[in-house]
Amino acid sequence: SAPLVIAVDGPAAAGKGTLARRLAAEFNLAYLDTGLLYRAVGRRLLDLGADPHGAAAAAEAAATLTPADLARADLRGPEADRAASAVAAIPAVRAALLEWQREFGRRNGAVMDGRDIGTVVFPEAPIKLFVVATPEERARRRWLEMRARGVAIGLAEVEAELRARDAQDSARSVAPLVAAADAATLDTTALDADAAFAAAMRLIRDRI
Ligand code: C5P
Repeated sequence: SAPLVIAVDGPAAAGKGTLARRLAAEFNLAYLDTGLLYRAVGRRLLDLGADPHGAAAAAEAAATLTPADLARADLRGPEADRAASAVAAIPAVRAALLEWQREFGRRNGAVMDGRDIGTVVFPEAPIKLFVVATPEERARRRWLEMRARGVAIGLAEVEAELRARDAQDSARSVAPLVAAADAATLDTTALDADAAFAAAMRLIRDRI
């Protein structure tokens, strides 16, 4: 049978990454943060001084991504967030990254976090979680994270950027941010990382 893939989708800063990492450890699976792929493409365009909405340059960057691109230290922050969301709306970019993600999951199984894992990348995944939290709580978490990394930014600005990015990710015509029909929704607004993990494990046990 095919190796196990667990899809963890949802909007920015809902707690997908923390949860997905813990699930990967629990099930002894590889973890893939698929947002990093889009961030790396966006970053390459920013470095080139190219328009992140320009399809040809973005598709070229997506087709030639290297491990070094994914290991860069500057893939997080408001500029990279915006560039990632812009390139993620370009069909040729998504197409270039799709096979890569499928290969990754098919090889040995994986927990993958993103926006379209359960809907597009692995629609056949037996376990799909759609992780949500209120925009206020997600902004608060992202702001604390950024402050801890020394990024000087106000909470209101973080919340505005986050809402703008969610709107762009939800409104795009290719692989928009939407829960798969067979996904279990997990609201982490009132949950810390341990409680979110416990709640996810209960949802998963109901399904396998
Ligand atoms: O998850 P993260 O915030 O790192 O993702 C950055 C951006 O990459 C998102 O705003 C979204 O536009 C895009 N993305 C996507 N599909 C994925 C993962 C990320 O479109 N599977």
